[in-house]
Amino acid sequence: MFNKEVYAARRNELAKKVKTGLILILGNTELGMNYISNTYRFRQDSTFLYFFGIDQPDMAGLIDAGTGEEIIFGNDVSIDDIIWMGPQPAMAERAQRVGVSRVMPFDSLESYVGNYAAKGAKVHYLPPYRSDNRVLLHKTLSIALDKVNEGASPELIKAVVSLREIKDKYEVAEMDKAADIGYMMHFTAMKMAKLGMVEQELVGIMEGIAISNGHMPSFPIILSQNGETLHNHTHHQVLTDGRILVIDAGAETNMHYASDFTRSLPSGGKFTPVQSDIYTIVSTANNLAIDMVRPGITYREVHLAASKVIAQGLMNLGLMRGNVDEAVEAGAHALFMPHGLGHQMGLDVHDMEDLGENNVGYTQTFTRASQFGLKSLRMGKELKPGHVITVEPGCYFIPALIKKWKKEGTNKQFINFDKLEPFYNFGGIRLEDDVLVTDNKCRLLGAKRLPITVADVEREMSGN
Ligand code: GLY
Ligand code: MN
Repeated sequence: MFNKEVYAARRNELAKKVKTGLILILGNTELGMNYISNTYRFRQDSTFLYFFGIDQPDMAGLIDAGTGEEIIFGNDVSIDDIIWMGPQPAMAERAQRVGVSRVMPFDSLESYVGNYAAKGAKVHYLPPYRSDNRVLLHKTLSIALDKVNEGASPELIKAVVSLREIKDKYEVAEMDKAADIGYMMHFTAMKMAKLGMVEQELVGIMEGIAISNGHMPSFPIILSQNGETLHNHTHHQVLTDGRILVIDAGAETNMHYASDFTRSLPSGGKFTPVQSDIYTIVSTANNLAIDMVRPGITYREVHLAASKVIAQGLMNLGLMRGNVDEAVEAGAHALFMPHGLGHQMGLDVHDMEDLGENNVGYTQTFTRASQFGLKSLRMGKELKPGHVITVEPGCYFIPALIKKWKKEGTNKQFINFDKLEPFYNFGGIRLEDDVLVTDNKCRLLGAKRLPITVADVEREMSGN
């Protein structure tokens, strides 16, 4: 937990931005996996953590934007709870630690806030992504269950995004820690990957490192020799020579700040010449993008520049053709890189996506494109000092997509479809690093960058 002054200052800023009405920030409850008392690992809501810091279930925070009055709702434990959970600090003490002096039982939230709402007071809330919070808002504010999300407060969303997206020095220190854990996860996998291993063995090792050094992985680990499936969570294959193993994974610190890295490894420790060619295109795009990141540039510009590197590289290999600017303008490269260059990161690996991707990555005047590929760019807007973003270009050969475009003649003037057949078993390559936008440029998060050149990756995998 940060010092209480940090949380108090954040709430103060939030109240100033929202100006009037009550601000209700709900924490998370426990969630049963297969029966109620066998729960998933508890994960507090990130916005609740940001403003109220308490990492316990069944809490809510209330701020009166007009008067600045603050309340934390949460129950003191009973003797029955203590028998199962051990002694717990009193609610008043927990609240003091984050600078809040007034507490009320969690069970009184519904009537307390409901009474204000019934008298016509504006209650600002964020769009719930869990059913129990949707039901709580429905009951508290007498809003139809299926209208709760659309009733979320645009002013509150905007205010929360504007605060959370600029990381302060305490948060950056946590994110460096998350990056260092991510480094250990990937570096260990790079060293341990051996032909004959099953993918899940590496997943287990990486998860163990995340849990030993922080809270958990920042999202379910993506690790597969079928890396052309962008979010592949199947891990049953044996590491086989000639294939490429895509590993996309990061850690969450005990304070819940995230990292997110991707490396693509030759399963047998050595890239084939054609794998090395495609790999080098992606690493060139990654390096160019990092080099371009600075305040004032839009991330869409960086995405498009990286896309041109991919398209030019594929033209050099004879897989694409034509004018590179026209090909990227037409979205032809998206056959090979159908996703965006990256996303914001912080307390969530895709930061604040619960508040709406467009509310985080775009503005009212700078809106998301609808073109295939570019529409998957989650973060497109202008970069500012304090933004943390991922840089993750990729190149994939997705047989179903190639066959579809070929059949439909999509972008046929830019793509040599006949040359792509030998690539149907290639898989994919993605290379992802995490950067902090600084006052005039950017820097990589974490003490060390994961090996990224062909030579460095092969050297680490060979044990030298
Ligand atoms: N690392 C997974 C993703 O960014 O979607
Ligand atoms: Mn990512």
